[in-house]
Amino acid sequence: MKGLLLSGGKGTRMRPLTYTAAKQLLPVANKPVLFYAIETLLSAGITDIGIVVGETKGEIIKAVGNGSRWGINLTYIEQETPAGLAHAVKVSKHFLQEEPFIMFLGDNIIKEGVKSFVEEFEREKPDALVLLSPTKNPQRFGVAILEGGKITRLVEKPVPPPSNLALVGCYIFNKHIFSACEEIKPSKRGELEITDAIQWLIDRGYQVGYHIIKGWWKDTGMAEDLLEANRLILEEIEEEIEGEVDELTKIMGRVKIGKGSKIKNSVLRGPLIIGENCLIEDSYIGPFTSVGNDVKVKETELEHSIIMDECEIHLRERIEDSILGKGVIVRKVEKRPLSYKFVAGDRSILEVM
Ligand code: TTP
Repeated sequence: MKGLLLSGGKGTRMRPLTYTAAKQLLPVANKPVLFYAIETLLSAGITDIGIVVGETKGEIIKAVGNGSRWGINLTYIEQETPAGLAHAVKVSKHFLQEEPFIMFLGDNIIKEGVKSFVEEFEREKPDALVLLSPTKNPQRFGVAILEGGKITRLVEKPVPPPSNLALVGCYIFNKHIFSACEEIKPSKRGELEITDAIQWLIDRGYQVGYHIIKGWWKDTGMAEDLLEANRLILEEIEEEIEGEVDELTKIMGRVKIGKGSKIKNSVLRGPLIIGENCLIEDSYIGPFTSVGNDVKVKETELEHSIIMDECEIHLRERIEDSILGKGVIVRKVEKRPLSYKFVAGDRSILEVM
């Protein structure tokens, strides 16, 4: 079975971070979201993978390379416009050919992986198999309506939701999906929707099965989801200290510190991760915080946040629930006037006390 990873799209809901970076390369516990997707496919035995790319193609190729790091075969597939998930399937036909394939959204993380999902498809051989998860806020997702153990209808973001079973960003299809993607028309938002393509299969009597997952999954489409995915991944991090920690520093809980990083006179309360070549001085880094590489933190308290590479923070206050993109500087003003001074890019969010 081949794999199709979707890594194009617009990423509008993740602005401003996606003005300068592909959504799928945003870090969760210091690893790009897309790498979790690749590793999930690999652990289900999928080694022939196509990656759909759009305007952030260059960055994605730079980060992922030719796949040799994972021992997989990678093919990049260009989608000229992000015209929907079913459109991404259409443009990938030359790569997928007639074989069944698993499609995975490049900004999703599925904790338990997809091995049993793939096995179920191979055992039952339906025309399509969708992954569902009981969800508290199904109105944010595509929702499946089941009757007599079968899916009868898929509805996008329904209010009120007719069931709590959300479509997780992973599907397995055989070749009939191509006819469906050819036949359907763009939705109100102008995209060829994969839910419409699956509904097309259901309406014409093709076998569409479902598989319900028990563990957590996260669609990291919005900032709060990225923080939540970061928290969930850090919950399981293992301790590994490669950097230098001085004797004045106190460490509690599971902490990972990369090579070349120096921690001085600070308190680290895990689970947390600090990348390589960072300098943390006179600070507190609290649970569920990911600090990238080459970051400097001085006299600051950080908790439940994602701090990307090359940031410099010297605030003498506490930062929580925050995401700082690459190279962001946050510092206390030293000279009068003692006012807030911002240099913020488009659509930045600055919340002050
Ligand atoms: P979405 O999150 O649904 O869409 P988006 O990336 O355009 O984001 P937003 O709604 O915030 O503007 O896409 C899910 C995944 O599929 C994501 O990894 C991007 C990818 N994708 C494509 O590769 N091609 C497409 O045409 C679309 C719509 C999405």
